[in-house]
Amino acid sequence: MRQLLRGVLLFFAIPSLAQTHSVPLLADPPSRTTISLDGTWNTIVDPYESGIPSRYFEPPKPKSKSELVEFDFDHSPKLRVPGDWNTQRESLLFYEGPFWYQRKFSYQKRPHIRVFLYLGAANYRSRVWLNGIKLGEHVGGYTPFDFEVTNEIGEGENSLAIEVDNTRHEDGVPSTHTDWWNYGGLTRGVKLIEVPETFIENYAVHLAPGSCGNCERKLDEVEGWVQLKGATQGESVTIGIPDAQAKQTAAVDASGRAVFKFAARMLQLWTAENPKLYRVTISAGNDSIADEIGFRTIETHGTQILLNGKPVFLRGISMHEEAPFRSGRAFSEEDDRTLLTWAKELGCNFVRLAHYPHNEDMLRLADHMGLLVWEEVPVYWEMQYQDPATLENAKAQLHDVIARDQNRAAIILWSVSNETPIGPARNAFLKTLAEYARSLDSTRLITSASDKWHFKDPQTAELNDPLGEFLDVIGLNEYIGWYGDRKSEDADHIQWAFAYNKPVIVSEFGADALYNLHADAQTRFTEEYQANLYQHQLGMLSRIPALAGMSPWILMDFRSPRRPLPGIQDYFNRKGLISDRGQRKQAFYLLQKFYRDKAAQK
Ligand code: GCU
Repeated sequence: MRQLLRGVLLFFAIPSLAQTHSVPLLADPPSRTTISLDGTWNTIVDPYESGIPSRYFEPPKPKSKSELVEFDFDHSPKLRVPGDWNTQRESLLFYEGPFWYQRKFSYQKRPHIRVFLYLGAANYRSRVWLNGIKLGEHVGGYTPFDFEVTNEIGEGENSLAIEVDNTRHEDGVPSTHTDWWNYGGLTRGVKLIEVPETFIENYAVHLAPGSCGNCERKLDEVEGWVQLKGATQGESVTIGIPDAQAKQTAAVDASGRAVFKFAARMLQLWTAENPKLYRVTISAGNDSIADEIGFRTIETHGTQILLNGKPVFLRGISMHEEAPFRSGRAFSEEDDRTLLTWAKELGCNFVRLAHYPHNEDMLRLADHMGLLVWEEVPVYWEMQYQDPATLENAKAQLHDVIARDQNRAAIILWSVSNETPIGPARNAFLKTLAEYARSLDSTRLITSASDKWHFKDPQTAELNDPLGEFLDVIGLNEYIGWYGDRKSEDADHIQWAFAYNKPVIVSEFGADALYNLHADAQTRFTEEYQANLYQHQLGMLSRIPALAGMSPWILMDFRSPRRPLPGIQDYFNRKGLISDRGQRKQAFYLLQKFYRDKAAQK
């Protein structure tokens, strides 16, 4: 009961989003009028960082034929945006360094309209110029960022130059070592967003704590906030849920924030089986937006996770944001739909989006398709946990993914890390991150995946990571049968012990298998080895009383510089249940049957 109470009590003590982060993020609901800048861009590979001294960011206007200009974007190689550069040009597959994008676009200015340049993601550091004027910089490869360009954008032709540098940094988030490809570039869409002088910058709408699915609900209470920009205190904001005959008007405070709480006729609560979304409208002055939002509650009770007050078992799978068939960074709704449809075919009601925020469409699709989501920031393996700048970077990425996705009912878990080494600096870093996540969003559960377990005795494996104290849900990565000295069959005799009486999700287990490589179950990299490991793992997991869910590693093979084994890996991590070409391996059908039986047990 303690956790339940904590969830409710915490709510009233939470500072609001805008009070905790200096640069609130512009929400980009589908209803906004936007001008896409996606398409073919000019590019210059710049390994020796010539772009700054040579001023690549200034549209060159050679004053005479004798002037020395040594670059010409218009006649430079092209790349598609969005999309990583690694998989668009063979010579760039392993490239890590500075890289320039440039394009021209025409724009018609209108009175009383403010314009923002919005980038879905750029991996890893970017610097942005418009018409030779530096707009700013951004660090972090998987979260959106924006710059107001109302004054910098010109009537008619404009020139936009962006330097993206995917060099890995010891003090980065992530640091220099990961087990995924360092896809660089403008990996998600680039657009202009037009808004009135006073506009809706961001908002959060959810069920008030205490609402639940199986209590005698007469009426639901919806609450949240709307953040305006450019407003004066007292201006009103109206929020409505037409299909629930609910509407409320509230006044903004001096910071432009309106907080509201209103009754809504009994709402159909969002579940994976019935992913009901409501059209929510918000208007303020000349601005109005609409979004599709699901309403549900998520909490823990002992070792159970409760969705709308009822225990739920998370039948999941882990996923990288790897494009099916073509490989590279997935970015389109088509990529996302393919991956999430495969997860549904596997019998999942849950996906772990590893190890970084995926593109926004992935979350909107999970809302529509009915998949619960674990979303994660790339605090991964060894990092500079003692470095305050690294912590600020991680907090900014956490803030921005919450600011972008906080209205997605599908998301039930914010994960603050994956497989980080236990130590005082790391423990303090992650405690701060977990508390920061709760301060931004008290309506979701906080988790993290730890692989810091050990054998207490030959048959008892124990996870006692001090990080568990700060989490609502414990993530366990274990690779019995693949890493370490135990065989797959040993899983039959292993018991698990946990230091905290909280729900456990086995967030990773698995084995590499090359599709269509066959031999006996003891031969590594065969489908038979992977299937045999799954068979024994599933038996072991079924004997963990605190198990509230699982997300085996991983849905689909993905590129990794750590996996060179010729003819088998070829720089792919082959733990997918599906190959990078969409071919299902034997273990896919094993897990599918396990999940179908699990779903039927309800
Ligand atoms: C680790 C890690 C993954 C990695 C996997 C593997 O647990 O979390 O990012 O890809 O194991 O070794 O395949």
